[in-house]
Amino acid sequence: MSVTEPMTKLSDLEQSLIKRWLKGRKSGVPDAVKDELRLKFAGEILFDEPMRHHTFIKIGGPADIFLKPKTEEDAVTAVRVARAGDVPVYFHGGGANTLVRDGGIRGCVLCLYDCLNEFSVIAETADHVDISAGAGTPFSKLVHFSRDIAASGLTPLTGIPGCLGGLVCMNAGTREREMRDVVRSVTYLDKDLNRLTLESDKLEFAYRRLKLPRTHLILRAVLRLEKLKSREELDEEIRYYQKRRADTQPLNFPNLGSIFKNPQVSGKGPVVTAGRLVEEAGLKDVRVGGARISPKHANFIINEGTATANDVLSLIDLAREKVRAMAGIELETEIRIVGEDAEPSVRGGAGSCRPGGMEAN
Ligand code: EPU
Repeated sequence: MSVTEPMTKLSDLEQSLIKRWLKGRKSGVPDAVKDELRLKFAGEILFDEPMRHHTFIKIGGPADIFLKPKTEEDAVTAVRVARAGDVPVYFHGGGANTLVRDGGIRGCVLCLYDCLNEFSVIAETADHVDISAGAGTPFSKLVHFSRDIAASGLTPLTGIPGCLGGLVCMNAGTREREMRDVVRSVTYLDKDLNRLTLESDKLEFAYRRLKLPRTHLILRAVLRLEKLKSREELDEEIRYYQKRRADTQPLNFPNLGSIFKNPQVSGKGPVVTAGRLVEEAGLKDVRVGGARISPKHANFIINEGTATANDVLSLIDLAREKVRAMAGIELETEIRIVGEDAEPSVRGGAGSCRPGGMEAN
């Protein structure tokens, strides 16, 4: 199978489903699909569920149907029933890096966060240990488990929010470490619902992404960690990385993590950070509506309580415009932006920006 399709490009299947869906859409998901889900899906089913309840930035309009599967089989059932009824399915992790537009998501959202969340050691030698974990496992649980079994490799990723599937899918990381450094294999459902596993030498990781088509659903991953350090050393590392994050990032406000990727030059790594560029463009502390570019780190947008997706998108547009004009650099978003605009779609734009006061943290 091919794993070379860029994640930003929708598959033909996805595009045709969305087109057909939008064309025929009048009053939400067909009743037949709802009835079949009620009959066959064992997990939780919510209708018109506000996505702001399922995103870290606490923004997002309603999903027509929001599904939390109990088992892998349940996840397969959801995808099969939705696709048979021509209803698009959107895969959602913890929503740590996802901005859902204010009009919400048409179709089904299949959310794995804290579902499919079991994990265990599956192999051990004198110098390494392999942990297999469900895609919905909150990543923080894996960091603490690795400390408990005195296995090193995950601590530099301490504090990255979200679940394992999301972190693998984004090749989440920091300066020191990315998911690709620890992933041994990934098991996923392909678009025809086959359950397949790819070993690390076949996985195409790139900067902040895994090249796996969006129609594929990551179900679990095996992580290989080293048995190099004591629990005390790992505790110290966890404390160090937690403090560094708290010192430099606006963790006390709902946010999306890094908004932009750090610009890359011929794949040789960042020469200048997105945070520095946005700061140099004079945008630290600028607000649109309830959204604000953090005075603590300019690559973060925070929700002060009333922000809409449109407010955040206006700040993103503004930052890209100003950085392009200042440095000729095209900032690329790291976050995933999904869903529909609310009607009518009017963005705040530069005219409605205002500098904020001091941030509380
Ligand atoms: N900087 C500024 N102004 C700012 C922010 C940063 O000038 O407002 C400059 C400073 O010189 C600073 C440098 O940028 O020393 C680097 O900043 P930082 O250490 O925060 O790193 P980053 O490149 O902005 C990356 C990841 C973060 C990760 C940190 C720590 C990306 C896009 N972001 O941020 O990951 O936590 O390193 O290792 O790669 C995330 O992906 O969501 C994320 C938070």
